[in-house]
Amino acid sequence: MRQLIAGNWKMHGLSAALSEIETVAETAVASAPNADILICPPATLVSRAAQAAAGRIAIGGQDCHPEPQGAFTGDISAEMLRDAGASAVIVGHSERRQYYGEDSALVAAKARAAWRAGLLAIICIGETESQRNLGDHLNVCASQLTDSVPQEARVANTAIAYEPVWAIGTGKTATPDDIAAMHAHIRECLVGRVGEQARGIRILYGGSVKPGNAREILRTPEVGGALVGGASLSAPEFQAIFSEASP
Ligand code: PGA
Repeated sequence: MRQLIAGNWKMHGLSAALSEIETVAETAVASAPNADILICPPATLVSRAAQAAAGRIAIGGQDCHPEPQGAFTGDISAEMLRDAGASAVIVGHSERRQYYGEDSALVAAKARAAWRAGLLAIICIGETESQRNLGDHLNVCASQLTDSVPQEARVANTAIAYEPVWAIGTGKTATPDDIAAMHAHIRECLVGRVGEQARGIRILYGGSVKPGNAREILRTPEVGGALVGGASLSAPEFQAIFSEASP
């Protein structure tokens, strides 16, 4: 399985940041020949990012509306992202769930929209700190997965990102044992939901992935890649992470 190392720039990046994408694109094939590298910049940069990447790395969106077009001021459809040069989109990031009240049914509709437009859907799930402290994390992630991942999910159109909310932007990461246990659990839930072919669907880990912990995380069983926030904003840091992808 080729690992997918995806950068999520969130609401960061003006035109000057395109040089980071050029730098990453120049080195990606040499430093991670067996991994897929993706950067999801803000929507305003997708088109120019795709030009800068020139097919050497993939460019994605951070969110999309379920409908292809319509009277939805401020929203962007999956078709628009595709038209701008994206080949993937993140859906159901915990920041969208938390700040915009997105529930798993909406996330599933967005995943279907991504597929309709021919995009890879990176569907995010993950428990909060209090849910983990209560011992509910496995159940929470299982139900988010069941409700957010439509049954048409396939290896070619879907990746899952497990991102414990308490590890995002905090510098805390789950231990390799915790990651392995959760990813194995997600794998079984996914197989139960979409069948045996789900064994090939990549399950990414996200939450404070940095150059210093990337190797350990990317060698953890059932980890099919990483979703990287803060450390993806700088080309050298992001390179240091994806150069640790499984050979
Ligand atoms: P982080 O963010 O790497 O800055 O913790 C990860 C994410 O939210 O995707």
